[in-house]
Amino acid sequence: MSATERLMSEAEKINRFLSDIPELSLSGDPRWERVLEAERYALSAGGKRIRAVLAVEFYKLFKGTNEAPSYVYEAACAVELTHTFSLIHDDMPEMDDDDMRRGKPSTHVAFDTATALLAGDGLAILPYEILARLSLEGKISPETSVKLISALSRCAGNRGMIAGQMLDLWSETRYSEIDEAFLKKMSELKTGRMLICSCVFGAILANADESAVNAAIGYAERVGLAFQIVDDILDVTSTAEALGKPIGSDSERQKPTFADVLGLEAAQELAEKLSLEASELIKKYPGSEFLSELAITLATRKS
Ligand code: IPE
Ligand code: IPE
Ligand code: MG
Ligand code: MG
Ligand code: MG
Repeated sequence: MSATERLMSEAEKINRFLSDIPELSLSGDPRWERVLEAERYALSAGGKRIRAVLAVEFYKLFKGTNEAPSYVYEAACAVELTHTFSLIHDDMPEMDDDDMRRGKPSTHVAFDTATALLAGDGLAILPYEILARLSLEGKISPETSVKLISALSRCAGNRGMIAGQMLDLWSETRYSEIDEAFLKKMSELKTGRMLICSCVFGAILANADESAVNAAIGYAERVGLAFQIVDDILDVTSTAEALGKPIGSDSERQKPTFADVLGLEAAQELAEKLSLEASELIKKYPGSEFLSELAITLATRKS
């Protein structure tokens, strides 16, 4: 099975767990369940599920197994919920103002901006409810739960993804002030931290040692940066049909990107170099072939 096929089959599994999240079942009260509908809409719209797959695969790698138990998938879904919250808000008129996401109208278009705002809030909080529940149900230890909650809140929060998103907004129109170092810093925060969180989730769930955690972080830092570089390239070179989101969004918002600062070719070369480095870092772990191939696949992806 190729890395792309395995990614798709794991993503299918993640989709089943996402649609079974009990906290997202409809309430039966039409006065407020519109927000649940919006959350389910944003989540069910598709998406590559890379973050959840990384969490599951790093668990398998460090546990030395081909299978992961259900609670690992449930915990991995938490990262995907946080990511989806960030996309709902990212697309809103006050941020990137994009009306398509995952091949469907963005949540604020399909519903309305106030509902989208609340749906994002709901999905931002839900992961912590789930990670606490997994411990209360005895599926993970209280210590594992706290470690996961700590990793997710730090990676997503004020000194993580939120800081990166703020830098992204700050960068708009500032072409003359933005250089490669700034873009690396911004990408490390807005995209890299959630990728780090995903890989570290797998390590925490597998109770991996410090050197394994560091290998996971090193892999995620490189894959995360490469991922944002390619996202910037595809915003210029791809099509809305292939991406499921509008192209030309960055230049429309006057956001300087890797495509502007490095040029398309050098940016692609950097992404591929980073992904090769990422593969090297995990090579010594038996069973790392899929994650190695995945790093390369993500850097050369067309959607
Ligand atoms: C898009 O992430 C936002 C970035 C961090 C570049 P993805 O490309 O992983 O989006 P989905 O989840 O597959 O829709
Ligand atoms: C978004 O970056 C990163 C997030 C934290 C959501 P982008 O704004 O480039 O992502 P897309 O291109 O809209 O998916
Ligand atoms: Mg954005
Ligand atoms: Mg955007
Ligand atoms: Mg983008």
